[in-house]
Amino acid sequence: MRALLVQQRVVGALQGSATLPVEMSEKEKNDIMDLTHNLIILSLDDKVLEQRLYSFKMHEDKSVIEQIDEFNKIIDDIEYIDVKMDDAEKTLLLLNFISKSYEHFKDAMFYGRVQKIFLEEVQSLIRAKELQKKHDINEEINGDGLVVRGRSDKKDSRNVFFNHQAYGDSGIIIGQTGEHAEQGKYNGIEYMKCAPENNFFPILSAVKPTDIIFFCSPNNPTGHAASRNQLIKLVETARRNGSIIVFDSAYAAYISDDSPRSIYEIPGSKEVAIEVSSFSKSAGFTGVRLGWTVIPEELSYSNGYPILRDFDRIISTCFNGASNIVQAGGLACLSQQGQMDLQEVINFYKENANILAETLSSIGLQVYGGLNSPYLWVQFPGTKSWAMFAEILERTHIITVPGSGFGPSGESFLRISAFNHRELILEACRRFTRFL
Ligand SMILES: Cc1ncc(COP(=O)(O)O)c(C=O)c1O
Repeated sequence: MRALLVQQRVVGALQGSATLPVEMSEKEKNDIMDLTHNLIILSLDDKVLEQRLYSFKMHEDKSVIEQIDEFNKIIDDIEYIDVKMDDAEKTLLLLNFISKSYEHFKDAMFYGRVQKIFLEEVQSLIRAKELQKKHDINEEINGDGLVVRGRSDKKDSRNVFFNHQAYGDSGIIIGQTGEHAEQGKYNGIEYMKCAPENNFFPILSAVKPTDIIFFCSPNNPTGHAASRNQLIKLVETARRNGSIIVFDSAYAAYISDDSPRSIYEIPGSKEVAIEVSSFSKSAGFTGVRLGWTVIPEELSYSNGYPILRDFDRIISTCFNGASNIVQAGGLACLSQQGQMDLQEVINFYKENANILAETLSSIGLQVYGGLNSPYLWVQFPGTKSWAMFAEILERTHIITVPGSGFGPSGESFLRISAFNHRELILEACRRFTRFL
């Protein structure tokens, strides 16, 4: 074998890539290392490789994930010299090699299944179990006694609570809730009041456990950005109840105080939260369409299976991705210049919000929001939001949004948007002052 390496002028690679001449590029070094590796494999007798495979054993004290990679490498080497093994053989070998601490898992794989098992599936379950083990150890160390449990893909009678109407409505439309109950409410949804009385944050002790918690901050329509303490409570509740938070941070770019811009600023959130966001509000992409979803690797079902794998499967089946043109636009937004330009536009809309808020407060209205959001949430006590909306439209020709459209807690409120040209905002302020 050494003679073969000398003949091919790659014997130096036996000492490792660090000993190759410094003037070589990284790519040249990598090519030589690959060639050396392949020559060694080719010069080995099938039996030597098979021996390497059959003597492979997993060790308790080594990372299972690294050992699976090692196993896959041996299989690759064997296949490189044209020894054919089918998926079932490889799976059986792997299950035989797994260490003692996986005995129960092995039994479940062998005896608990009626369907065929695939190598990829077994490997991902082992990886998931390993992550879960790490997670359990961390829980013990932290001593907070909270575990993610009871989370499944099954529907039960209380599966959702939310602080933005669109999430509830989408759930209803796709049939993920129960039947219509009364006053526009549906079974299977916990409706959480977010109003001035509770600082626009639900009283979590009053919420029954749900599978999913939809939470939007800064919020549309109230304009309220949840504080760090509020989000800590939300994450604690999700961990205790085995719920998954779907956190919508579409308005995060409007935050100007120290409210968290992402749920992942909260410790322990990666095991319980998905974050969705979008360029729609930070970069005016509503017509262009580009957003993103973050599924942490740590997020799993109660059996340890990673949610990321299901998400990946579904999204790559149902969606072929955003167009290149749109993605190029997104990258431009993320460039340094793009970020500076966007901040200027966001500041402009926030000034609009401030101008509107001052005007409406000066005529005696109670105004919420606007500080961390492009929306004002304005209260008209004793009125119905639709009636107020219609009256303002008729008298001032200004379009607002009736608060009750966002849910029962929105009754008697109007949402007023700051997304407009400055002269139109100033004109709206003149009309509000004259007519209200
Ligand atoms: C709460 C909330 N999330 C997200 C979005 C943005 O959605 P999309 O990215 O689909 O435009 C909006 C826009 O209206 C919104 O109000």
